[in-house]
Amino acid sequence: MFREPVSGAHRMTDVTEAPSFRIDIANLCLWRRNAAGAEQRLDLTPKTFDVLRYLVENTGKLVTHDELLTSLWPDVHVQPEVLKSHILAIRTVLGDDSTKPRFIETQRGRGYRFVGAMDDIAPPATRPDPTLELGAFAGRTEPLEELLALYNRAASGEPQAVFISGEPGIGKTTLIGQFLSRIRSHPEPAVAQGGCIEGFAGAEPYCPALEALDDLCGSPQRSRVIRALLAVAPAWAVQMPAHITAEQRATLRQQLVTGGRMPMVREGCILFEAIAAEHPLILVLEDLHWADFATIDLVSALCRRRSATKLMLIATYRPEDLKTARHPLKQVAHDLALRKYCHEIALTPLPISAIDDVLTHGADGKPVSTPLSRFLLERTGGNPLFMRVMLEHLLHRGDVARSAEGWRLLVSMDSLPSETPPTLAQAIKTKIEGMTA
Ligand SMILES: Nc1ncnc2c1ncn2[C@@H]1O[C@H](COP(=O)(O)OP(=O)(O)OP(=O)(O)O)[C@@H](O)[C@H]1O
Ligand SMILES: [Mg+2]
Repeated sequence: MFREPVSGAHRMTDVTEAPSFRIDIANLCLWRRNAAGAEQRLDLTPKTFDVLRYLVENTGKLVTHDELLTSLWPDVHVQPEVLKSHILAIRTVLGDDSTKPRFIETQRGRGYRFVGAMDDIAPPATRPDPTLELGAFAGRTEPLEELLALYNRAASGEPQAVFISGEPGIGKTTLIGQFLSRIRSHPEPAVAQGGCIEGFAGAEPYCPALEALDDLCGSPQRSRVIRALLAVAPAWAVQMPAHITAEQRATLRQQLVTGGRMPMVREGCILFEAIAAEHPLILVLEDLHWADFATIDLVSALCRRRSATKLMLIATYRPEDLKTARHPLKQVAHDLALRKYCHEIALTPLPISAIDDVLTHGADGKPVSTPLSRFLLERTGGNPLFMRVMLEHLLHRGDVARSAEGWRLLVSMDSLPSETPPTLAQAIKTKIEGMTA
């Protein structure tokens, strides 16, 4: 049985050879993968699964018996011996040996430590990886390194803000996904992602920030985030009805009436800083060219604050769309960059060497600048989205084939179409309209 990695999954790899295991948070189960890539679902009882999940989420750290019991079952009295039976069940499915542990190490009388190979533990993916649709992720070494360096600074208590800009389809979202999947720090950062929606500008104040909070409330950080919402941000908390009880909401409303209101922006800053006070938080707010003005005020305020928190703010936007809408973000982004309140990463089209890498799935030793790469560069200008649309068109016509080794031309260059596929023509037209508006 073959499966794509599931959203919210951590991979656990045996330090020797296959099989490897991954814990599937979304489906509350474990997957065992053999050397050929075939996967088998392994079901654990809910409590055993909770124990495994907690240990994996705290990889490398000694988790005491008390910590496990109070974190997992705060309201139930569980005999410490019961933990042993859960650990035994986990070891059995993992084929682990307590005398030579590869996954769970016992510290006699104290607790357990998950010692699976740390490099292979990926942070939860919040969205499916879109790069799989095209080929290898390529040509973004520098921005990736910059993001990772900024994250390290944020994680050590020096908050960071970065704006990633670029035309539609240039790879802003993909870059963020790749960056998140490459973070190897412990503890793993909390990641909160929200985006603006076209046509909603001005209608939904703080829309992406609320979406990001909603995202966090569905993550393992849930209880911490809700505590912070209730403690420091009543005006934000009342906007999260799915995550607070009716009783809490009534108390908050009362509090807001009697205690007066702090401006939402200030309260929002305090809230995100409280969440990021001890534990790194990556707040991703996408497509700010469609943002409501309140969100832009919040972003601007977050960038300007200097509290020693572990917050990394990543915002994306399309510069061309700011021109069209005469959007305040243009001035705000300019001012913030000028005063060094934020970093800027402007993504440019992929060069031919990166197109080669995409087409060969990043394999070494392939001839560079194949005719197909040159054709794509010429016809799409190195925009990855346009490349994908063009490749789909060629695939549909039978001009190219795709295999595990990458994309291959099946016809001579002369036979490649001179016309632009309709979907790409529309995308290019939209881009040109944006540039000339
Ligand atoms: N560096 C890259 N290497 C390979 N493929 C890429 C790369 N960057 C992006 N892609 C591909 O291009 C497509 C578009 O990328 P993405 O959605 O990240 O663009 P975007 O800049 O976020 O666009 P938008 O402004 O519309 O949100 C993705 O589906 C992905 O497959
Ligand atoms: Mg995007």
